[in-house]
Amino acid sequence: KRLAILASGSGSNAEKIMAHFQHSAKAEIALVASNKPDAFVLERAKKFNVPTFTFSRKEMDAGQLLEKLREEKIDWVILAGFLLKIPVALTRAFPDRMVNIHPALLPKYGGKGMYGAHVHEAVKAAGDKETGITIHLVNEHYDEGKIIFQASTPLTEEDTPESIAAKVHELEHRHFPQVIEGLV
Ligand code: GRF
Repeated sequence: KRLAILASGSGSNAEKIMAHFQHSAKAEIALVASNKPDAFVLERAKKFNVPTFTFSRKEMDAGQLLEKLREEKIDWVILAGFLLKIPVALTRAFPDRMVNIHPALLPKYGGKGMYGAHVHEAVKAAGDKETGITIHLVNEHYDEGKIIFQASTPLTEEDTPESIAAKVHELEHRHFPQVIEGLV
């Protein structure tokens, strides 16, 4: 199976996934694509000799990302910190073959604008006793795709958005590669 990772930022999840599949017979990370030419995830891909592709929102919306994924014969698309709304044509091209990770326990803290630090700030403000991660299939309704996996971690009053982010990242790094392995 040929997997493509879409990411907009640092790519710590992408790194764990590339490392996990580096010697896999089951799947290979065939492409890392980003809408940010300076995203650190592209540096991480180079370290793993994974081909990269950058595109603008306009190009994505014009179908150029879909074209590239077809050219590369991609079977699965993994969203790992990808911050743009996926065009409907793209979600429809990969029915039940597009996976996203969300840094909270959906359906809580999902939807527009809830990404990165905003999520952890909202969890903190709500005084939640736990948070976690959600790995789900992506359909045209974004954060409402079928939930594949969730893991949670306890929180205390001492936790800050930064410490919450660290706990969530640890869960992501521990689980995302394995969950993908079980899916593809
Ligand atoms: C992760 O917290 C993920 O849940 C969210 O974006 C972040 C990406 O982090 N979608 P990284 O770029 O993988 O370090």
